[in-house]
Amino acid sequence: MRIGVLCSGGDAPGMNAALRSIVRTAIVCGDEVFGINHGYEGILNEEFYIAKDGTLVMGLRSVSGLARHGGTILHSSRSKRFQTDEGVKAAAKILRKYRFDALITIGGNGTLSGSLALGKEWEGQIIGLPGTIDNDLLGTDFTIGFATAVDTAVDAVDKLRDTAGSHDLMFFVEVMGRHCGDIALATAIASGAEIACLPEVEETPESIVSKLKRIKDAGKASVIAIIAEGYQKGAVEMQRVLKEVGNPFDSRAVVLGHILRGGSPIAFDRILASELGNFAVSALVQGETGKMAGKIRGELTLTPFEECVKGHKKINEEQLRLLQVVAS
Ligand code: F6P
Repeated sequence: MRIGVLCSGGDAPGMNAALRSIVRTAIVCGDEVFGINHGYEGILNEEFYIAKDGTLVMGLRSVSGLARHGGTILHSSRSKRFQTDEGVKAAAKILRKYRFDALITIGGNGTLSGSLALGKEWEGQIIGLPGTIDNDLLGTDFTIGFATAVDTAVDAVDKLRDTAGSHDLMFFVEVMGRHCGDIALATAIASGAEIACLPEVEETPESIVSKLKRIKDAGKASVIAIIAEGYQKGAVEMQRVLKEVGNPFDSRAVVLGHILRGGSPIAFDRILASELGNFAVSALVQGETGKMAGKIRGELTLTPFEECVKGHKKINEEQLRLLQVVAS
């Protein structure tokens, strides 16, 4: 089987570990893997990964030592051209031209939507892997990269705590997550933040300020508020709005942004990526297509693309309650 692999959308720590696992599993199964550079845009540009020895087929050594590297050696993109019917048809034609039998796509919601569209135009098999720091996909408990992003955010907040404590400050710390507050929620629990603003939970500025006044009256001199990117207009705007309605703390805003997408994946993501990469190739060998490989309650699962992209994962209510208790 000739398997193409691509990464699309925002990069996530662990994408390389997934590629390593895909290549090595395929070799064991007697299949060939071709890396496609720059995601769906790379299909349209016929842009393939070429190993140092000049070969197109990815060999065992082409993925040596990759598990610990952040980013993606295949490069990624958000292809506008592929989001059109013509683009999808053109991609299908190119995949036929190179006689691909199957494709593994690694990315988030947009990537899987692209795979769904491609599956309607192309007869080859397609399996998706959840590679996004956002953890917003249906069909898996954890996406590849989420745990590392949370770890990075917690490390940053721990550092900000020092300055917050030294200067009696409040920090508004913005973490990524356009549609989903999972990174913010997990970061808030792990860093012991006093406030968390998530897109899934609306709160008025007045009620947040009341809480801040209670916190101050209780003797706290510094505060950390974790703001999800998708919460209203983010941390800088929240800082401004809360000041206007009487925030009792002197404050600063810090946007962690793309820092959360980088860095060496932590062991959890390396293991998850390795498991899912291996599982994706096995699924192809068994004739599966049109599904995302995920892990739900410890079980490796395949979920149809339609199911994965029909919405965003709901916030974990248990963790939300936990935050309310531990942040009080
Ligand atoms: O990968 C998803 C994501 O991390 C979102 O949380 C964020 O809004 C987006 O990427 C930013 O992407 P870009 O790099 O295209 O600005």
